Amino acid sequence: MSATASIDFDMVVIGANGDLARRKLLPSLYLLDLDSVLPPGRIIGVTRHALSTEAYREEVAEHLRIHLPEGAFRDDVWQRFAERLVYAHVSAADRASYGPLESLLGERPDAERVFYLSTPPQLYGAISQAVREAGLITDSTRIVLEKPIGHDLASAQAINHAVANAFPNEDQIYRIDHYLGKETVQNLMALRFGNALFEPMWRAEHVDHVQITVAESIGIEGRGSYYDHAGALRDMVQNHILQLLCLVAMEPPARLDQTSIREEKIKVLRALRPIAERDVHDKTVRGQYRAGAIDGQPVKHYLDEDRVAPDSTTETFVAIKAEIDNWRWAGVPFYLRTGKRMQQRQSEIVIHFRAVPHRLFADKAGAIQDNRLVIRLQPNESIRLGMMVKVPGIGMKLRAEDLNLNLAETFKQRTPGAYERLLLDVIRGNATLFMHREEVETAWRWIEPILDAWSERGDAPRAYMAGTWGPSESIALVVRDDRAWSEQLT
Ligand code: BG6
Repeated sequence: MSATASIDFDMVVIGANGDLARRKLLPSLYLLDLDSVLPPGRIIGVTRHALSTEAYREEVAEHLRIHLPEGAFRDDVWQRFAERLVYAHVSAADRASYGPLESLLGERPDAERVFYLSTPPQLYGAISQAVREAGLITDSTRIVLEKPIGHDLASAQAINHAVANAFPNEDQIYRIDHYLGKETVQNLMALRFGNALFEPMWRAEHVDHVQITVAESIGIEGRGSYYDHAGALRDMVQNHILQLLCLVAMEPPARLDQTSIREEKIKVLRALRPIAERDVHDKTVRGQYRAGAIDGQPVKHYLDEDRVAPDSTTETFVAIKAEIDNWRWAGVPFYLRTGKRMQQRQSEIVIHFRAVPHRLFADKAGAIQDNRLVIRLQPNESIRLGMMVKVPGIGMKLRAEDLNLNLAETFKQRTPGAYERLLLDVIRGNATLFMHREEVETAWRWIEPILDAWSERGDAPRAYMAGTWGPSESIALVVRDDRAWSEQLT
């Protein structure tokens, strides 16, 4: 990343004392400053509490020390960064309280102005309106909205509509999905469109199926009051996993700009085959974790977590067989899976190619495994291509081995976190990695019937022990099709 010297910005972080601001936003801005790529500018923290700028800076320092990687907090950088921090005591949904922000922003009318809403989404409409009424929206002002945008299609539409009333230009609205800022997700584009090798194979004639797994070993991390009303489908699939699916499945865009990429992603979302109520049992699996152990440490039953209803039926795991009804992907299932408290943190995309059409080798040469391209998002970002090779020695014995590109080892440099890249994009006014209103709503159109069918059927989620790969029904989901999840093959 290189500095953009001509930009001068004012980023207003609304909800500056929230978990996201403390854990992600401020540490990411600090790391950009540490790397000398953050343009000159101010970060204006806004909350409903009366606080001096001095006290706010102390609070930020305290949280940076907790959340930054070891060794990253340096006194010289902190001095520089602290100078950028300003505090404004404003109740963001209440227009009458905007005085302090009006004076601050009025000092620098030409700075690039960004409002980052790190608040519950129910407030997005009211805050946008208050910002508008306070006269703080210039032609280039941007507003950043965190997920979840809505709880279902209607609430997502209501939020988008309310924000659009204040910001009529869609280009000013940045809906963030931090998965799009991850290094390996970016690499997926390089892999697909920077190499002539894969594109001809990237279709139903050659691909047997695709797996997208986002497995987490963490639980709900004190977020029970949010998570118990959301569940894995809303929290992870509606956004992160569908975005990954789009990047795998989309047609090559004509250009790498925001409109071209968004258009291609929307086409994929529209081509997703709806999962009807009669199919929901065969194509989806919901799970909820029970007490178990991860890395030798005991972990609680989901129902014993704080702020979770004792009889909650919220899913902490979901697996789905998705199908894309278009020319390129007809007949190629996309198996999607995500869960909390799984055996290990592992996010990957697996492109499973078709079997060789004719076996040339004698039985004693061993089984021939289909080629697999594994794009590992985290941890240890890598790209591996599983191929059959001959075992050295007399006689023909075959074995599957990986061509392995370990990105950390190859490049030996710090990979910027997803929020770092995305925050810099917002400051620079580059919306390529952000979601268009239509993407969010189209994703809800596919997700909502699944939610409705689940609630119609009233089935309880399947139990799985913490520290496993999810309920056995999720294994059956792929075994039924004569396939297996990737960890069962390695
Ligand atoms: C968030 C979800 O959007 O993504 C969390 O709300 C989840 O539940 C997190 O843990 C995962 O992000 P990452 O970057 O750690 O994979």
